[in-house]
Amino acid sequence: MLGGAAIVCKQHLLNTCKIFARTFRNQVKMSTSAIVSLNTNLWDSDPELYDLIKKEKKRQFLGLEMIASENFTSKAVLQCLGSCLSNKYSEGMPGQRYYGGNEFIDQIELLAQKRSLEAYNLSSENWGANVQPLSGSPANFAVYTAIVEPHGRIMGLDLPDGGHLTHGFYTAQRKISATSIFFESMPYRVNPETGLIDYEALLKTARLFRPKLIIAGVSCHSRALDYKKFREICDDVGAYLMSDMAHISGLVAAGVTPSPFEYSDIVTTTTHKSLRGPRSGIIFFRKGVRSVNAKGEKILYDLENKINQAVFPGLQGGPHNHQIAAVATAMKLAKEPEFKKYQEQVVLNAKALSAGLQSKGYKIVTDGTDLHLILVDLRNVKLTGSKAEYILEEVAIACNKNTVPGDKSALNPSGIRLGTPALTTRGFVEKDINQVVDFIDRTLKLAREIGEKSGPKIVDYKNLLHNDEIFKTKVAALKKEIEEYSSQFPMPGHEEY
Ligand SMILES: *Cc1c(COP(=O)(O)O)cnc(C)c1O
Ligand SMILES: *[C@@H]1O[C@H](CO)[C@@H](O)[C@H](O)[C@H]1NC(C)=O
Ligand SMILES: *[C@@H]1O[C@H](CO)[C@@H](O)[C@H](O)[C@H]1NC(C)=O
Repeated sequence: MLGGAAIVCKQHLLNTCKIFARTFRNQVKMSTSAIVSLNTNLWDSDPELYDLIKKEKKRQFLGLEMIASENFTSKAVLQCLGSCLSNKYSEGMPGQRYYGGNEFIDQIELLAQKRSLEAYNLSSENWGANVQPLSGSPANFAVYTAIVEPHGRIMGLDLPDGGHLTHGFYTAQRKISATSIFFESMPYRVNPETGLIDYEALLKTARLFRPKLIIAGVSCHSRALDYKKFREICDDVGAYLMSDMAHISGLVAAGVTPSPFEYSDIVTTTTHKSLRGPRSGIIFFRKGVRSVNAKGEKILYDLENKINQAVFPGLQGGPHNHQIAAVATAMKLAKEPEFKKYQEQVVLNAKALSAGLQSKGYKIVTDGTDLHLILVDLRNVKLTGSKAEYILEEVAIACNKNTVPGDKSALNPSGIRLGTPALTTRGFVEKDINQVVDFIDRTLKLAREIGEKSGPKIVDYKNLLHNDEIFKTKVAALKKEIEEYSSQFPMPGHEEY
């Protein structure tokens, strides 16, 4: 914050100006070369770094990107991120900044707020949005800071069952998530048989634990949540309901999965997953009447100030204005009819992926998907998540290992999570997904062969994969085939690499 510093500065302004003018005149003469170097393209000024970026671009282009939380953003978003907005300090809210020069920054942030509400059909009478959180995790922490007192109680889906770290996570040895260090977190779980959320058990635990806040949100779960049920449980125990729609915010905006807004007090999201925006976070909060008491008096929500103040000055400093502009343009794109079609295809592709893998004998948690991702349980094919993830990466298919319901250890998970947002962006439809299923199946069969020979240890498995001539050749051939296949599909905003 500048406050005090600004006043001191003013007293010295005159002197400083004179000194500055003199220095500036001298510098104009001597520093043309310095300015030139500030204007040099990255590829000339820093070829080492530029080369690494080019390599990453090529990796993204040649591979099959199936990490469920990743997507290729649009050119418009990338242009905002590389803009002059990155230069500006603007602590505070639009119209109430601690710095001058924010005329246009204010308009950009207000536009981002307005479009964020519009993307979800929210009226500004009942909802507000804070678009300053730097990402999803800081957005969640700001909510807890705003409405849960230190060591207050929070319930979220357990991490091994598909929740997110920020919903609280601790082991027998230590508290891992800051949500569990600074607050008291209690997990709820899925039914290990069905993989579905066990709402009965959630209600029972909530009645005992009496949390201030319950979180409805997932990072690895392929079914829509029952927000109405969450609301009933929250009302039963007097808790706030925060929905964290980070993974599904694009699907929600397109109306292809139920929206959490009707039943929630607060909704948080990232903007870089299914929404296709920049890496950033948003907090939506309710305004207006919360309830009417027995005497007929209206009780109002008081979330707006608490949340805005938790974000700044509570947790953050200057907003990232280039990100906020990129959020504004992503929200505009999310209102276009094309976006809806796209999201529908994302879900169709995920369903095709699920059905295709099932037809080859793989077990899919919850037996399918309503969303953009699936969780493959590899226990019946005698592979671990780590071994599968490793060999898939070797053949240019990016995904991540993941715990499946019933897993004993989070360190050695039994599944992999696969998502379709990024491939759908590149124009993949069901028939292409069938080809992907074939690639995955062939790769995992090879993994089994290697695993049977190497034994259970991952080091032995990696060694064999890289050093056995036959296996090495097979892996290289698969990789070549997959990269050739993948490079037929365009990548938006990334034409030349
Ligand atoms: C990804 C995710 C987050 C955190 O987002 P970051 O931008 O990685 O900090 C929070 N909640 C859920 C449910 C997520 O999936
Ligand atoms: C918003 O309303 C439009 C028009 O009624 C509808 O098509 C769209 O699905 C709605 N979006 C959301 C997120 O509710
Ligand atoms: C992924 O990005 C593309 C293009 O940038 C966009 O059209 C699409 O909506 C995004 N995916 C999801 C799931 O939102």
